[in-house]
Amino acid sequence: MSEVLFESERLAFRELSPDDAAALYRLNADPEVIRYTGDPPFSSEEEARTFVLGYDRYRKHGYGRWGVVNRLDDDFLGWCGLNNIDGEVDLGYRFFRSAWGQGFATEAARACIEYGFGTLGLSRIIARALPENIASWKVLEKVGMRFTGFGSCKGLEGAKIYEILRD
Ligand SMILES: CC(C)(COP(=O)(O)OP(=O)(O)OC[C@H]1O[C@@H](n2cnc3c(N)ncnc32)[C@H](O)[C@@H]1OP(=O)(O)O)[C@@H](O)C(=O)NCCC(=O)NCCS
Repeated sequence: MSEVLFESERLAFRELSPDDAAALYRLNADPEVIRYTGDPPFSSEEEARTFVLGYDRYRKHGYGRWGVVNRLDDDFLGWCGLNNIDGEVDLGYRFFRSAWGQGFATEAARACIEYGFGTLGLSRIIARALPENIASWKVLEKVGMRFTGFGSCKGLEGAKIYEILRD
């Protein structure tokens, strides 16, 4: 298991590792979880493991989607983090359904933005969410991101686009 990179009040953030493959497989196996994401489920735990082994974002950009664990019991709740998409820094998150509705995504998004602006020195972060994915864009608004218009997200049209600037 990789070391903790940063923490928030209830959560700890660390790089995804092959140890997380089973959890990532289970996460994406829930149709409610991937409903608005444009992602298919992994076909097996092995496929999830191969994905993590090939995940080069941390080395390439210095950031990526981070595993999020509960600081109380180290329970893997899901992931949240930053992704470089065509030169833009995109915030994203995905949590097990059992963890929804407790403010974890809002807390995690806030922590990742702070880490991005503070530690990583980024100047702008964007995010996208389909209008039907109300919980997701509520999170973006709660962390102070500004709606800028509509665009596409992983081939899904009509996504709400948000941004936040460091200054
Ligand atoms: C989106 C997601 C990360 C939100 O996680 P979460 O931990 O439940 O989010 P939070 O508790 O921090 O905040 C959700 C907010 O949306 C609100 N909300 C959720 N569903 C809602 C609905 N149908 N109508 C109105 N508000 C809603 C909640 O009340 C909460 O706001 P509040 O704190 O002001 O009450 C979670 O649902 C998830 O993992 N979804 C699947 C993956 C996904 O869709 N990721 C985003 C892709 S763009």
